[in-house]
Amino acid sequence: MLANPLAPSWLVPPVDGAALPAHVWPASAHRDPDGAIVIGGVALTTLAAAHGTPLYVIDEADARARAARTRAAFAAAAERHGTSAVVYYASKAFLSGEVARWMVEAGLNLDVASGGELAVALAAGVEPARLGLHGNNKSPAEIDRAVAAGVGAIVIDSLLEIERVAAAAQHHGRVQPVRLRINSGVHAHTHEYLATAREDQKFGIPLADAPAAVDAIRAHASLRFLGLHSHIGSQIFAIDGFLEAARRLLAVHAELLGGGDVAELNLGGGFGIAYVEADEAPAIEPVADALVEAVAGVCRELGIPLPRIAVEPGRTIIGPAGVTLYRVGTRKDVVVALDDDRSAVRRYLSVDGGMSDNARPALYSADYTVALASRASDAQPVLVRVAGKHCESGDIVVRDAYLPADVGPDDLVAVPATGAYCFSLASNYNYLARPAVVAVRDGRARVIVRGETEADLLRRDVLLNPTPATDPTTPAALS
Ligand SMILES: Cc1ncc(COP(=O)(O)O)c(C=O)c1O
Repeated sequence: MLANPLAPSWLVPPVDGAALPAHVWPASAHRDPDGAIVIGGVALTTLAAAHGTPLYVIDEADARARAARTRAAFAAAAERHGTSAVVYYASKAFLSGEVARWMVEAGLNLDVASGGELAVALAAGVEPARLGLHGNNKSPAEIDRAVAAGVGAIVIDSLLEIERVAAAAQHHGRVQPVRLRINSGVHAHTHEYLATAREDQKFGIPLADAPAAVDAIRAHASLRFLGLHSHIGSQIFAIDGFLEAARRLLAVHAELLGGGDVAELNLGGGFGIAYVEADEAPAIEPVADALVEAVAGVCRELGIPLPRIAVEPGRTIIGPAGVTLYRVGTRKDVVVALDDDRSAVRRYLSVDGGMSDNARPALYSADYTVALASRASDAQPVLVRVAGKHCESGDIVVRDAYLPADVGPDDLVAVPATGAYCFSLASNYNYLARPAVVAVRDGRARVIVRGETEADLLRRDVLLNPTPATDPTTPAALS
């Protein structure tokens, strides 16, 4: 079959249109004899019939295994060099009570980035000492709640915050462990909006200002300095950016040892996953080995003890374990003019969700792939663009993929690698109800976050729902 000239160079027509490449799909994904995709032992057709579409589906065993494997990889790498490692699950990727528990059961700590995430983690029963709080603009209420709860670490993001956290800790009679977020200046190889360690951005403080900031932290009896923190960006495949950030941080870390203990070095998260078949994401073990090896090497060169190593991956743990299930509503073939007077056809399949359940294509030009989920087909593959149903031309779920030519209305399609930053970035744009999240495992499906209803959509509107059950103002601790 000839490739459609509108297809990007990385996309080739599939040899087997029914294949579910293992590096993109959840570990348990396969097709049943009728061709329906099965995840966690449950056919997606069964899930659609029971819970409707769109629907977030998480392979629970896969998510748990990825968490455990990440912890084991860093623990083993650290142990080989005579230190320890702590893995925080970056809960911004996807947080619910269940997921928080899976992570804790796998031995991970959690990092949270707002009072809301903190509230969910605490309500899920996560031990406060296992939590780290992030954020470039934590409110006084968020800081106060975190300190009062006894979180294990607060990542200080600005000079002003040193005084705020110290005052809150003093007020609660606590000694609050803190990290200092550094803008290392390392340019991650990723989409611009995901690269968080460039000089001209909002996170952290410049490396050159770190010694004075740490002096200020150490001057407060209510603070305990744990170490430096860096997060250079997200969805990064090449390890060199992390290594360079580690080198830069360790030079300052060594200097800080002159003034007291520096127990830890936190290198953040951001390891990449495969969203489409052409993506080649490294396994977590070589990443852990290379990172720890590099940190150990630099420490040897500098003649300093190897600190405990902390990392905060989110996407690599939950991303590949999730798929989003949609029903196709309409199909349109659009003739597109090419540069050389020829034309080509792009097929638009519109589904019953879109940018409200997956903002990443609109936000970051993220690429995804898609598969026919409800049946087998031996029709020729054609290039498709899967569009959402929102009033926005940028409302695209899958920009380019091949699907069998007979896919159309009422078919179910599944988009893999949507476990991270889809549910957590979901909105109610156009007053679409946010989908349920179903965890599947060993042939059982459990709703872990219920889908919104029309009543949910009306609930916050004071005219339409004048007697809400709770005070309509935002709880102070979440703001
Ligand atoms: C400070 C920090 N740590 C960790 C992460 C997790 O990144 P990822 O999910 O790409 O691993 C992020 C993501 O934005 C972050 O900002």
